[in-house]
Amino acid sequence: MEQDIRIYVEESPGQRRELAAPTDMGLSLMELLRASGYPIQATCGGMALCATCHVEVLAGPALPDPGDDELDMLATLPVQHEGSRLSCQIRLAPRTDGLVLRLVD
Ligand code: FES
Repeated sequence: MEQDIRIYVEESPGQRRELAAPTDMGLSLMELLRASGYPIQATCGGMALCATCHVEVLAGPALPDPGDDELDMLATLPVQHEGSRLSCQIRLAPRTDGLVLRLVD
């Protein structure tokens, strides 16, 4: 069994909450955030079609580049950040250990 990884959510400037997550269940970052009580609607069920799971990656390991579906959906958002991602498209894996992010309304 693999060890849990750590994901950090910046809830306000300087305030980070640490989440522990398994990597052997095929969870997405969106699913972890919802299970941790964050109010993400995920109306599309994780299909990169609603953007309600928008997060800004602030620091941490390099992630795989977004796919075309994710890029298309991000392009429709009124506000984008340099680290904007759809959390449903980020699979929790050892390479995502140490990710720091904040939710974007
Ligand atoms: S849950 Fe809909 S785009 Fe991520």
